[in-house]
Amino acid sequence: MMTPSILVFLGSERVSGAPLPTRLGAWVAAASLRRLADKGVAATLIDPIEVDPPHPFKPLFAYKAGKAPAALDRLADQIRQADGYVMISPEYNHLMSPALSDLLNHFGSSLFSYKPSAIVTYSAGQWGGTRAAVSMRTFLSELGCLPVSAMIHVPHAQDVFDEDGEYRPGVDGDRWAGYFDRTLDQLCWWANAAARQRSGGSDRPQAFVTSPAERNAP
Ligand SMILES: Cc1cc2nc3c(=O)[nH]c(=O)nc-3n(C[C@H](O)[C@H](O)[C@H](O)COP(=O)(O)O)c2cc1C
Repeated sequence: MMTPSILVFLGSERVSGAPLPTRLGAWVAAASLRRLADKGVAATLIDPIEVDPPHPFKPLFAYKAGKAPAALDRLADQIRQADGYVMISPEYNHLMSPALSDLLNHFGSSLFSYKPSAIVTYSAGQWGGTRAAVSMRTFLSELGCLPVSAMIHVPHAQDVFDEDGEYRPGVDGDRWAGYFDRTLDQLCWWANAAARQRSGGSDRPQAFVTSPAERNAP
């Protein structure tokens, strides 16, 4: 089996509390990267604090050629080259984190589309981000990176993982690994399938050529 190249987007940038702990998403991201590494999958973390897109908001495609910030160009290249994406988000007021939606909104669907994504949500409380995950499906589908059917939700994430993404004492690591695998294996399967289709020279259907209005119903 081929090993796909995966980008892991961390939808968390809250560096000071309360509520504590802060940046719980980094722990979940570390756990996801560990699980992917265990499976021999090459994965790269995308951290919104490191990317630091300029504000006020201006998407990459709104810049004139050669004028975009280097950080956005760099991330666009990474998105273009990846075979699939893991999208990690907390639940903020029942929606995905603004850190993740803001970062993703900088890039058009042409970079993400015809590739799969995996939804990973978490919370400090009991719901595991499930309500945010529902709307993430809509968001990611519009972006073109179709979410696989299985999802990962981690309630009380601070009791499951430590800061390095290791299981806390007393946690049933095998069960959690199996739970993560259900989603990550679907992601890798689809990522490989889409990569084969691309390398076979298959043309991707275009949503529109010059104007979004070309998508309109007759
Ligand atoms: C603005 C805000 C809104 C929140 N809304 C929810 C929520 O709707 N559901 C939930 O389960 N937890 C909610 N929480 C608690 C988060 O699950 C918890 O703070 C978690 O650590 C956030 O992830 P982060 O540390 O990576 O930012 C919220 C936290 C914040 C700061």
